[in-house]
Amino acid sequence: MIIIASSNGKVGIEDAMQVLKNGGSALDAVEAGIRPVEANPDDHSVGYNSWPNIMGELELDASIMNGRDLTSGAVAAMKGFPYAISVARHVMDQLPHVLLAGNGAERFAREMKAEQWDELLTPEVIARWRRQLKDNMPAEVVETLGDDTELREWVKLATDPERTYSTVNFIAIDKNGDMCTGVSTSGWAWKYPGRVGDSPIIGAGNYADNRYGGCACTGMGEMAIKANTAHSVVFYMKMGMSVADAAERAMVDLRDLGGDYIGGMNLVALDKDGNHTAMTSMTGRTYIYQTPDMDTYEEKPRTFVDIPGRWPRVNAH
Ligand code: GLY
Repeated sequence: MIIIASSNGKVGIEDAMQVLKNGGSALDAVEAGIRPVEANPDDHSVGYNSWPNIMGELELDASIMNGRDLTSGAVAAMKGFPYAISVARHVMDQLPHVLLAGNGAERFAREMKAEQWDELLTPEVIARWRRQLKDNMPAEVVETLGDDTELREWVKLATDPERTYSTVNFIAIDKNGDMCTGVSTSGWAWKYPGRVGDSPIIGAGNYADNRYGGCACTGMGEMAIKANTAHSVVFYMKMGMSVADAAERAMVDLRDLGGDYIGGMNLVALDKDGNHTAMTSMTGRTYIYQTPDMDTYEEKPRTFVDIPGRWPRVNAH
């Protein structure tokens, strides 16, 4: 039994480990580990009180995958429900579908009686959003921001890859050897409304297969979607690579991407035997892991793989 997570999973890993110690499933452990991160007001990348989209609305993405049979559930661009991972779990457990988006995800969350909160942003986060827009956009655009505002140039300015990226990743193996991966995020700060990242896309930000291992990503989700990163790591393991080599190979795939918008990327990966690794294209990043014999988690540095950023200059005014 083991759990690995991105370092912002510290607030949830003890709950997750308790589930495994009590004989619970990897699925229950991952959901239990992610919910405290989603409720953490100080984490502005996951769940409650996260950075909103460019219109000031919080839209959440999440997914969960069962490595035993590859069943999966996900929600995207969902408003009003802070525990996106639990709604994703309901999608997996209750529906013949994998991914619900927008109004449909919200309707289903209500049907499942998921916790719905009226206020998901504190005044401090709203003030930061306003300041961010004022710093990046002409005053007349900010003052008249509405349904008719053309946003396409402004999201290129405001979505600065150096400022805003996180997301939470959890991967667990339970006493039966079943693996589960889970991811939850508010996505890129100040994103275009309806933008969906890699977190709810099975194969991009999340993948688990008991026979080989699992992987989950944080960072610039558009890159993981293009390179199918989480699945690539598992596929490389299937082809015989160690978890460390597979993860590094998938990072090199990301470095090889063309196009203008290249930002920071990170991943955590676990093989079926409990060997783990984590990669980053940023310096100083860590991840955490815990096994049942440990009193608490251990924090480890990630392996650095250089992915030079590219972001075209845009004229603001
Ligand atoms: N990796 C999270 C996102 O890009 O939305």
